[in-house]
Amino acid sequence: MKLHNLRQQYKKGTINEVNLPDDPIIFFKEWFTEAMQFHQFEANAFILSTVSANRPSSRVILLKEISTKGFVFFTNYNSRKGMELNQNPFASLNFFWPDLERQVRVEGKVAKIEPDESDCYFLSRPMESQVSAIISPQSSIIESKQELLQIKNDFLSKGLKIQRPENWGGFCLTPDYFEFWQGGADRLHDRIIYSASNESQWLKNRLAP
Ligand SMILES: Cc1cc2nc3c(=O)[nH]c(=O)nc-3n(C[C@H](O)[C@H](O)[C@H](O)COP(=O)(O)O)c2cc1C
Repeated sequence: MKLHNLRQQYKKGTINEVNLPDDPIIFFKEWFTEAMQFHQFEANAFILSTVSANRPSSRVILLKEISTKGFVFFTNYNSRKGMELNQNPFASLNFFWPDLERQVRVEGKVAKIEPDESDCYFLSRPMESQVSAIISPQSSIIESKQELLQIKNDFLSKGLKIQRPENWGGFCLTPDYFEFWQGGADRLHDRIIYSASNESQWLKNRLAP
């Protein structure tokens, strides 16, 4: 396979800063709506990058809400990402929508959402997903898949009450930096950044591709 010869021309759009909203959340919602409309598979999926004391790590996560505070997602608080966010709350999100030739990078500080908000989302999930969240010690080494299924069966056969475990819930990333990237002809892509200034306003700039 000749990877050197893999080459796409990007031609689906441009970003004209004259018409851009002052609030990047509004711009994000516009692009997100378009990503959903294009039937992009898992348009709400993003790469979450976290940093422990000395190295970064990344994984795919699903966005579940854009609240007034920021971007909300759900996970196991004892997972690798949970531990890393505990050590260092700064993280980045990367949305890649290839059908639209777009990428959005978001950076900011992450905090746990309120327990009752996590309860609310947990209760909205299918029962099987609730049980998986309860029985899976996410990111821990386990003996085998069989062992996990056994734990699940034991849990179900005991008829225990299904409720959100304290170690599972939502995080919210409050953004202080955005980059909107639109693929351009001949690699002259559009890159517009929004940085939160001290006056709690957003500064808009264009970056070279
Ligand atoms: C499409 C997709 C969606 C995912 N959504 C989530 C999610 O919303 N929450 C989650 O904890 N893991 C999700 N995962 C699994 C994570 O990528 C990862 O394997 C898991 O969270 C453990 O990561 P960690 O060991 O770095 O903490 C998803 C994976 C994929 C491929």
